[in-house]
Formats: sequence, structure tokens, C-alpha cells
Amino acid sequence: MAKKVESVNYGLEKIFDGAQDFLPLLGTDFIELYVGNAKQAAHYYRSAFGFQTHAYKGLETGSKDSVSYVVIQDKIRLILTSPLNSKNPINDHIVKHGDGVKTIALWVEDAKLSWEETTKRGAKSFMEPTVEEDEHGEVIKSGIYTYGETVHMFIERKNYNGQFLPGYKKWESDYNPDPVGLKFIDHMVGNVGWNEMNTWVKWYENVMGFVNFLSFDDKQIHTEYSALMSKVMSNGNGRIKFPINEPAEGKKKSQIEEYLDFYEGSGVQHIAVSTDDIIKTVSDLRARGIEFLSTPPDDYYKAIPGRLEEHDHELREDIERLKSLGIMVDADEEGYLLQIFTKPVQDRPTLFFEIIQRMGARGFGAGNFKALFQSIEREQGLRGTL
Ligand code: FE2
Repeated sequence: MAKKVESVNYGLEKIFDGAQDFLPLLGTDFIELYVGNAKQAAHYYRSAFGFQTHAYKGLETGSKDSVSYVVIQDKIRLILTSPLNSKNPINDHIVKHGDGVKTIALWVEDAKLSWEETTKRGAKSFMEPTVEEDEHGEVIKSGIYTYGETVHMFIERKNYNGQFLPGYKKWESDYNPDPVGLKFIDHMVGNVGWNEMNTWVKWYENVMGFVNFLSFDDKQIHTEYSALMSKVMSNGNGRIKFPINEPAEGKKKSQIEEYLDFYEGSGVQHIAVSTDDIIKTVSDLRARGIEFLSTPPDDYYKAIPGRLEEHDHELREDIERLKSLGIMVDADEEGYLLQIFTKPVQDRPTLFFEIIQRMGARGFGAGNFKALFQSIEREQGLRGTL
């Protein structure tokens, strides 16, 4: 049985203790988004976010029903996929949800075993273990459904040395905007419906062997108007972290409820990507037209030195520089973190990105929740959805 770990700020050693090892995960393999126009989305992620061309499949490679562009930045791989005709079921996903994350793929040693261990614990199958091969070797894939129509794929690639996956060809271009310093996926957050958070916490515990190592209730995460609850799930080695949010009652509509209305169900709310130099990354992103939530007020920045001193940490960055870029700071016993959130990256107020630089802290910016949500509420007000 998994040990119940329910306190705020447990370190990684506690995560190891509580997690089960029936599903060893090596890391995030890729994230696949279903989008209305993959060609244009790929251009956006390259031009604005600094992703690089990596692989492609489409009509030219014999893929008659869908097209996929793979873009890469350090360890982050995104697949942007669109259907090529009206009969492809990807259309139904896009009609219902708009552009959004379909697949969070996990890199595993054994995709067959991963599927067997999770389905026997109650996961609904998305894809039975399937071998795909080409002249570069073979990949074994399998998949299960998680919340909403979102899927976890298990990717076993130890016998493959091709560019990406069988079926894809290398994609090269003469147009190659510089990367902006994004390194790897820090965490990915799911929004689920009213009173469903604990169901999915149990699902990640029982089916995936994860542990709940941080919890926030609506008394911690609220503003004058709206609230939410969140629990952070992690696998045993701490490489995969999935916070799960549900809306909570407030005077006005929770941002989670707004997401659920527009995504028409549960789904991925944000992808948090790590950088070693958030000042450079955010400067570059802003220069390329990425829009961020509004900068917190002066009082917020005045309070930062005190918040760090409480935990005996010293801010290495210039606070005026952080303020001019709208970057937020949070601290705990182990260190501090710097973070900022983009506006939604499509017209529906659904998926957005977080840029995060960890300076020792392992939390998720709880000290920033209030400033962040006030900023989101200002946007909701403009959308008429508060
Ligand atoms: Fe986050």
C-alpha cells in the first residue's frame, strides 16, 4: 500500500517513499496537441516560443488522414497534429475542445508492461501495446485514458535510433529562429470538474503509483471573488508532476469553471516549462509577441525581499528587472522560484504556458496564487466570464 503523504512541502525523499514502482517512468516523451491548423501552429511555436524543426509526417510521407509537425527545444518535444479530411475522429476532438493537449506521452522502459500494470488497476485502454518499425528499429507504444479525453501514451524507444518515431521523416527548414532557453517540462496541470479532484488523485495513486505530495484547499487558493482546490501528484523519481485542480465556490466564477466551460470538459490547463535564465527567456518571448498575464502591483514587489528573508534566501536577480518583465517570486525553506504565466495560447480561454526557474524551491508558487488569480480575474472580467 502507498503511504499517505499529505503535508505541504515534503521533499523528494518523501516522494520516493510513498510512490509505487510498478510503473517506472523515465521522463516526458512528448506532448501532442490537436489543433485546427498544424502548419500555422508549428510556425507560432517556432517563431514565438523558439522551438526547432524536428520531424514531420503528412501526405508526403504516406499519412493520408492527418498531418503532424514535431518541434523541439532542449528536452521538450511538441507534436502539432491536424486532420486532413472530415472523417478523421481528430475533428471531433477539435470541434468539442478547440486546440488543446490530447496526449501526455511518458518515456518508459517497457510499454507493454506499463499498459498491463495500469489497465489491470482500472485504467481505460486507449491503445493496446503496438509495435511500429522502420529501417531505424522499433518503437512500442501503448496508451490509457486519463481525465476527460486526455491520454497518457507509454513510449518504449530503446530499440530505435531514428529521428523521432516510425512514420516520421526528419524536418529541416531554412527558417530557424533561435531557441529562448526552454529546457524541460517541469509540470503539467489538469483541470477536472466539480468534486472530481479526489477521484483523479486516487486514480493517479492506484493506477499510476503516484503520490500526492502537496495539497492546497480553497482557503489557501482564493481571492475576494473566486477559488479553486489543487493537489499535486508525482511519480517516484519526481520527474513527472501533475497538479490537478477543481473549481471551488466563490462569489464569482472560478477560472477553473471558465476553463471547463470553454474546453467543454476536463483537460490540460497549463504546461510549465523550465529555464535556467528566466530574465532572458521572458525578454525574448515578449520581444516575439508572447502575451503574459498582467504584472502584479508595486506592493507585490515591495514585499518580495521580506518574503525571501523569512526563509534566509537572497534574491540573485535584479528586482526591478523582474518587475519590468512581470516575473513573480515565491520562496520556501529550500529556496525560491521565479515564474510567469502566458495568456491562453488560442482563442478559447483554455491552455496556457508557465515559464519557471527553480532556485532550490520545489513548490508551485503558492505565495503567488493571490496575485496571479487577481490578474486572471482581470482577464475574465474583460471576457465577461467572471
Ligand atoms: Fe504551474
